[in-house]
Amino acid sequence: MATNKTFTMIKPDAVANNSIGGILKMINQAGFRIVAMKYTQLSKETAGKFYEVHAARPFYGELVDYMSSGPIVAAILEKENAVADFRTLIGATDPTKADEGTIRKIYAKSIAANAVHGSDSDENAEIEGNFYFSSLERF
Ligand code: CMP
Repeated sequence: MATNKTFTMIKPDAVANNSIGGILKMINQAGFRIVAMKYTQLSKETAGKFYEVHAARPFYGELVDYMSSGPIVAAILEKENAVADFRTLIGATDPTKADEGTIRKIYAKSIAANAVHGSDSDENAEIEGNFYFSSLERF
């Protein structure tokens, strides 16, 4: 059964562009409630751990460098069918393939600088949310 939480990051390109407000507005308007939120910057080590699942991929080094290059916003979001509905809202990983009206179509620059992260499964939503937030930081 689908759980009702997912995890997102607004990535360095979107933060640098002053797009935090626009992206959060789209998230709220799509019916997601923000359960936890943090403005922070990943070190290379922390970014490497977060994306460890991609360690064997050719783009891993670029991904870690990029994700530690500037501040990000991390958040846990709540909604019925959260993981699937959020992936629909953000659109395809490659913004050139993202549907019109999706967050990546509007805000992403490239496949690496693609504005937002969204968990790809309920299991990863749980792992990723726990990576950033303690139980005392969720409301
Ligand atoms: P995200 O949803 O955060 O999860 C893994 C990230 O790897 C993905 O978004 C992309 O930003 C990045 N990624 C995937 N494929 C490539 C690629 N071919 N080159 C660079 N980055 C990539």
